[in-house]
Amino acid sequence: MIAAAGSGQRLGAGGPKAFVELAGRPLIEWSLAALADASRVERIVVAAPPGHDVELAGADVVAGGETRAESVRLAMEAVESELVVIHDAARPLATPQLFDRVIARLAESGADGVIAAAPVADTLKRAGEGEAIAATVDRSELWAAQTPQAFPSETLRRAQAAGDLEAATDEAWLIERLGGTVLLAAVDEPNPKVTTAADLEVAAALLASRRRAGR
Ligand code: CTP
Ligand code: MG
Repeated sequence: MIAAAGSGQRLGAGGPKAFVELAGRPLIEWSLAALADASRVERIVVAAPPGHDVELAGADVVAGGETRAESVRLAMEAVESELVVIHDAARPLATPQLFDRVIARLAESGADGVIAAAPVADTLKRAGEGEAIAATVDRSELWAAQTPQAFPSETLRRAQAAGDLEAATDEAWLIERLGGTVLLAAVDEPNPKVTTAADLEVAAALLASRRRAGR
């Protein structure tokens, strides 16, 4: 499933982010192509911006909701498979291998979820009064969560029904709150999120370097 129903306020391209052009294709097409090449993906469901009537080759399109979590919940109604992998259209660099690895790890581990993630590289500070540093946070145990995120479909639906969708910034959190075990799968290639116009330039540069490397 691809969450693509956001309006892209921070990108400021004047339309939904998923349809903004990146290296010659709409942003979402990069994720669609990677999913089409993943050997463990049978069907693709896309949550599209409400009122934004689109057809996407190779995918079933449903209307998303007000928030990302609500879009994913609505699109889950169209998912029939035992396992589901959720991905943000805003991460166009995710590879077929990453999708396959996350799904395989879920199937083989029997965990309640597996998510793509990267160890945090920056030194982290906790801000106090007047933006004075209150503490330096030990980053050795900290990872940045990404998508794809894979789950048994029923486990995810139960967590969505029980959870606080307003507060959820990813699906893993809903499952963690119910005591589920969610595993981290370290990404082996950059998989950045496109939020701002500068991020779009970074993504274009990464795609160009992949193309030069023949991948
Ligand atoms: N998303 C969604 N439904 C929403 C909001 C977001 O499916 N109601 C999706 C976006 O399309 C994106 C992903 O969730 O692929 C991550 O969201 P974000 O990067 O915040 O995208 P936007 O909400 O579009 O951007 P902004 O917050 O700047 O408006
Ligand atoms: Mg958003």
